[in-house]
Amino acid sequence: MNRLTSTFKPGAMFIMVFAASVCVAEVPVATVSKQALVAKRTYCMTCHGVAAQGFRGVFPIPRLAGQKPHYIKNQLSAFIDKRRTNAVMFRVAHVLSPAMIDGLAAYFATLNPKPLGGAPKDLVAAGKAIFENGIPSQNVPPCASCHGPQAKGADQFPRLAGQLNDYIINKLMNWEKERGQNPKEPDASAIMAPIAHMLKPEQITDVAAYLSYLE
Ligand code: HEC
Ligand code: HEC
Repeated sequence: MNRLTSTFKPGAMFIMVFAASVCVAEVPVATVSKQALVAKRTYCMTCHGVAAQGFRGVFPIPRLAGQKPHYIKNQLSAFIDKRRTNAVMFRVAHVLSPAMIDGLAAYFATLNPKPLGGAPKDLVAAGKAIFENGIPSQNVPPCASCHGPQAKGADQFPRLAGQLNDYIINKLMNWEKERGQNPKEPDASAIMAPIAHMLKPEQITDVAAYLSYLE
């Protein structure tokens, strides 16, 4: 018995390890068909706008065009896990496979339609100053320091350029009620939470107007 185990075990181990590494290399990564991806993104755009530029209905539906894939994926998983509360997007997101999420996120990043606009133009100059310089007297850092000088975003920092002003206002006013809703699973929403909290409503309105016109 002793002899058997001592002679066979290493061999068995070797086969297992070898088999495992072959598996990892050869199992195809789950994919979605082109057709399924087109059908799904067409569905997304029935709400998010024909070019994913955002849409104003009963409530503002955000622009997804040009958004960072990393951010889109983070938000879809936050909706699925209910760390970000939104009943509509929970229903949409929880049926998506990881491969579909990757495909959709990659697609929306490639779109570049003109911003929808519609914000009061007289607020734009004040909003630009907040975006670029922050509000030192309130300890608000420049938005540009995380969202990029043109508000194009990077990785987990979302693009804000061309986003609907009414959507931005709605999100910044309600941050703590909607995001980071699972204290046991902190996420990137915690980075933005203190900043949203420090902004006054009129400052939010200004910066949202500025961002909504950026291309
Ligand atoms: C029935 C309408 C509807 C459909 C269909 C829909 N969405 Fe949404 N989506 C919304 C609304 C409304 C919001 C804004 C939620 C909020 O206010 O927090 C949203 C928000 C999002 C966000 C967060 C954006 C941000 O800037 O934080 C992402 C990402 C998103 N949707 C992706 C998708 C994808 C991908 C699809 C298709 C699989 C899709 N949506 C289909 C209505 C919809
Ligand atoms: C320290 C970095 C940092 C700074 C500075 C910052 N943000 Fe953010 N912001 C983030 C991160 C990270 C997120 C994404 C949070 C998430 O994934 O839930 C975000 C998200 C947002 C969103 C939500 C976007 C969407 O599509 O729903 C808005 C709006 C926003 N920030 C506006 C601002 C404004 C306006 C300022 C300046 C007053 C600002 N941010 C400054 C890090 C920052």
